[in-house]
Amino acid sequence: MKHISIGGLDVSRIGLGAMSMSGYYNIGAGSDAESIRTIHRALELGVTHIDTAEIYGPFGNEELVGRAIKGRRDQVVLATKFGLVSHAGAGPGVIDSSPANVRVAVEGSLKRLGTEYIDLFYQHRVDPKTPIEDTVGALAELVAEGKIRYIGLSEAGPDTIRRAHAIHPVTALQTEYSLWSRDPEVKLLPLLRELGIGFVPYSPLGHGFLTGEIKSPEQLSDDDWRKTNPRFSGENFLRNLRIVDEVKAVAAEVNATPAQVALAWLLAQGDDIAPIPGTKRVARVEENSAADQLELSVKQIERLNNLTPAAGERHDEGNMSVIDR
Ligand SMILES: NC(=O)c1ccc[n+]([C@@H]2O[C@H](COP(=O)([O-])OP(=O)(O)OC[C@H]3O[C@@H](n4cnc5c(N)ncnc54)[C@H](OP(=O)(O)O)[C@@H]3O)[C@@H](O)[C@H]2O)c1
Repeated sequence: MKHISIGGLDVSRIGLGAMSMSGYYNIGAGSDAESIRTIHRALELGVTHIDTAEIYGPFGNEELVGRAIKGRRDQVVLATKFGLVSHAGAGPGVIDSSPANVRVAVEGSLKRLGTEYIDLFYQHRVDPKTPIEDTVGALAELVAEGKIRYIGLSEAGPDTIRRAHAIHPVTALQTEYSLWSRDPEVKLLPLLRELGIGFVPYSPLGHGFLTGEIKSPEQLSDDDWRKTNPRFSGENFLRNLRIVDEVKAVAAEVNATPAQVALAWLLAQGDDIAPIPGTKRVARVEENSAADQLELSVKQIERLNNLTPAAGERHDEGNMSVIDR
């Protein structure tokens, strides 16, 4: 597995997102035991970068990751996120990046993850009620105290990124980016490159859609988060299947899977980009990690650059409304 530097932090070229180990995407049975085996297999394959968040579960995902990395902490670049649980009483799902909340959140994450330090601590969503300077000021204190090593932002817009970076260096921005979500190319990637900040694309497989494994909306159970995602609904779903056909055609040419092609395309976008595909299955972590070895030709990249655009927004209205632009 190759390694790259994102804003000064060394990570494996391909990481592992742990979110789907705690629900959200419910096709086929998973289990904590298989999730833990998946994390162990990832580490064996040279994946170092593991991504979780306080809100996943909530809390349970960090506990699971903590159990999996016990005794292996030095092999892991551990990333987690705060700011979607308010510890002042409002609880999970409430945006709060006030300095007081950051302090409570970090202690909980450290405990659940069973670690003395977090490598990369992200604000999960920008908090319109707390100036970013105050949040980053609190994070800078945590860096000085050795509780976190690096600071990240997720779904932050250009203005917020500049203001945050002026207070303390931001190491990485985590935002959705994939073959069917190309918005970061317009403003974010040029800005990150200007400032020397790395980029971590989340949902690099389009929440699983780009792998070709989801063939009809009926495959998604009622409690599957994707049921509320416009790209997975009705007419949009059927139209978006055409994108998968185009990815499959390239995959057949290079003797790879569509998931590997989706990841290889992201890797080709720059050596400051470290995707974190999510899975709770050993076979898939093997498949996804192997994309590190796949080189697409200029012509294939060009073809993928010109895929049919996705039908539907990347999130529902509620989730789009909390994205900083
Ligand atoms: N910062 C944020 O706001 C934010 C938002 C969303 C996600 N994230 C992070 O990004 C990570 C990845 O994003 P994501 O999980 O939303 O989406 P993703 O990586 O695009 O796709 C994950 C989905 O694809 C399936 N899958 C994975 N590999 C596959 C393969 N080779 N073939 C077929 N299906 C495959 C998984 O199923 P199984 O799990 O059943 O294998 C899961 O349902 C998350 O785990 C989380 O850490 C961050």
